[in-house]
Amino acid sequence: MAPSIQLKTLTGKSIEPFIPDLARLRIEVFREFPYLYEGDMDYEKNYLSTYSQSFESFFVVAFDDHDVVGMSTGLPMSHETDAFKTPFIDRGYDPESIFYFGESVLQKSYRGLGVGVQFFVKREVYAQSLKRFTHTAFCAVERSENHASRPSDYQSLDTFWHKRGYRKHPELQTEYSWKDVGEAEETNKPMIFWLKKLSD
Ligand SMILES: CC(C)(COP(=O)(O)OP(=O)(O)OC[C@H]1O[C@@H](n2cnc3c(N)ncnc32)[C@H](O)[C@@H]1OP(=O)(O)O)[C@@H](O)C(=O)NCCC(=O)NCCS
Repeated sequence: MAPSIQLKTLTGKSIEPFIPDLARLRIEVFREFPYLYEGDMDYEKNYLSTYSQSFESFFVVAFDDHDVVGMSTGLPMSHETDAFKTPFIDRGYDPESIFYFGESVLQKSYRGLGVGVQFFVKREVYAQSLKRFTHTAFCAVERSENHASRPSDYQSLDTFWHKRGYRKHPELQTEYSWKDVGEAEETNKPMIFWLKKLSD
């Protein structure tokens, strides 16, 4: 990892001061394909309250000196909203046994330096430390291959996630709603989960 980047991990109440940084980074980074999120502070307030309400939420914060340049999040799946839990319950998983990874958002100029790998490592170590989870999971938006906003040089993160030991589970799907860049209204997006079994 680049020597100037420092990672700090925070849990529960201590995440609070970093919620505005997370909102800022989400709005900046998720404007890119495939998220295409037209950032909205009210939306962020509502979405991020799930993390504030969980006493076991976990943030990894990447600093370049005093600047927050990236963040990665997680919390027990049982503390998540029904939209995330229901596909698991329907397929016979117990949400109590799953630790859910929220977003990883890193400013462009800091990518390719190993920070994203560390985001996974630190979240998995934390999930293991709670000693009650069998799996870690996250979800990613599905966009059509011929989506008008797909950059010609777009590289999906699928290979990166495979290398971290995650497998795509198309049977575990949910929908999440946000406003795409340039859209007047929020629309539902299909989200597919990826899972990894934690070692015993
Ligand atoms: C996802 C994200 C955080 C990954 O961050 P990152 O720091 O670029 O990832 P890393 O550098 O750790 O790893 C990426 C790859 O680059 C490689 N890499 C590491 N150091 C490198 C270097 N100095 N030069 C080139 N590549 C390098 C890593 O080995 C890894 O490749 P691998 O999968 O073959 O091992 C970042 O791409 C991002 O913010 N994307 C936009 C938001 C997003 O889509 N988030 C995920 C869904 S929430």
